[in-house]
Amino acid sequence: MPKVTYIETEGKVHEVDLPLGATFMEGAVQNDVKGIVAECGGSCMCATCHVYVDDAFLDLLPEMEEEEDEMLEGATAERTPNSRLGCQVRASKKLDGIILRVPREQ
Ligand code: FES
Repeated sequence: MPKVTYIETEGKVHEVDLPLGATFMEGAVQNDVKGIVAECGGSCMCATCHVYVDDAFLDLLPEMEEEEDEMLEGATAERTPNSRLGCQVRASKKLDGIILRVPREQ
């Protein structure tokens, strides 16, 4: 199972093994990662699952769909080049070891 590391804003680290195909949002919610709200339940309609992806993994991410791009424009926390919505990216072998930081606000 791919390993995902979530880092909360206060620095608490969660190292989690996610089943292949689970979204990063699901992994965060199921493992009580503080700061991933996921109001819409993964429908790409709230942007409260915003995460910052470690630079080393940016090139390995699946391409962003237009919906995600639009939602990120309205995200509460600053959008950066490594912003993604956790509900739109799934755990995969290629992303094993990925590090995700939670924004200060959602
Ligand atoms: Fe709502 Fe990801 S959970 S956009």
